[in-house]
Amino acid sequence: MNAGITGVGKYVPENIVTNHDLEKIVDTNDEWIRTRTGIEERRIASDDIDTSDMAYYASEQAIRDAGISPTDIDLILIATVTPDKPFPTVACMLQERLGATKAAAMDISAACAGFMYGVITAKQFIDTGVYKHVLVVGAEKLSKITDWTDRNTCVLFGDGAGAAIIGNVSEERGIKSFELGADGGGGKYLQQEEKFIQMNGREVFKFAVRQMPESSLNVVKQAGLNKEDVDYLIPHQANIRIMEAARNKLDIPVEKMNTSVKKYGNTSSASIAIALAEAVQNGDVKDDDFIVLVGFGGGLTWGAVGLRWGK
Ligand code: ACO
Repeated sequence: MNAGITGVGKYVPENIVTNHDLEKIVDTNDEWIRTRTGIEERRIASDDIDTSDMAYYASEQAIRDAGISPTDIDLILIATVTPDKPFPTVACMLQERLGATKAAAMDISAACAGFMYGVITAKQFIDTGVYKHVLVVGAEKLSKITDWTDRNTCVLFGDGAGAAIIGNVSEERGIKSFELGADGGGGKYLQQEEKFIQMNGREVFKFAVRQMPESSLNVVKQAGLNKEDVDYLIPHQANIRIMEAARNKLDIPVEKMNTSVKKYGNTSSASIAIALAEAVQNGDVKDDDFIVLVGFGGGLTWGAVGLRWGK
């Protein structure tokens, strides 16, 4: 047996905010946003939906997809930088709401790399045989820490949640390699100051175009494979130009990379989880495909996984 992903789910709010909608509130335009970021629209949650609600909807779907019941879950890990409140954690809120009575629960904070940190942490518990089913969720309501008067940041972010169940799959499938990293020295480039996200876009961009390609290639090599063996790439959906850097490094055609950034913007820790659920649900990822998941975020943090899809 090997640790792998046995179920996926996602939730995005119904409310669509287009680039043209943003033109009405800040000095920006659709053309600038599209060409600089690849984003066309994003989902913004209404006041009555918080991070735990989105996490709950995505989790319900993932649990169903894995064919387990909430009481089978041993551990809940929620990656988020926008919890409903500092404590109790979103993970504990979800434990109660799902009726996952046997599960331990905690939140993980690694910004946009959070889902990668969650999946890789879950893998350790599965590999040791201590736990059988770990629910990992990336969930964010970034709209509540977005400064809607700052055009440098408000055009980038969106709300949503994605979930995965990590459990045992057959030996030849599952997580084959991983990489995690952090550089606290770069923390100043992307942070929440007072209420809002503040970002030095150019510095984050420079870091990301170096780290994403490097980590992607590292997990391919660590799995004993070559870049020709990669069937699908799921990068953190921050900016199409950063994602393209990772795709070019792996030399794979554009249709083999998830580009949901255009519909959802940057949903931080939720982005890779949403993209994975969507790719599986659309049939872009099939059994035995080798896929690379890779993310970077505030901290600075990064993480990547090489995974042979299927149970
Ligand atoms: N509309 C129009 N103009 C804008 C906008 C906007 N929404 N935002 C910024 N500008 C202007 C700036 O004011 C600046 O103008 P100036 O030169 O007169 O001062 C100019 O555009 C900046 O242009 P560029 O330097 O060409 O912009 P760049 O190509 O660097 O793109 C961007 C900016 C998109 C922010 C890019 O730097 C980026 O994507 N960085 C990474 C951001 C990122 O991924 N953040 C998320 C990290 S993950 C996490 O943990 C949340």
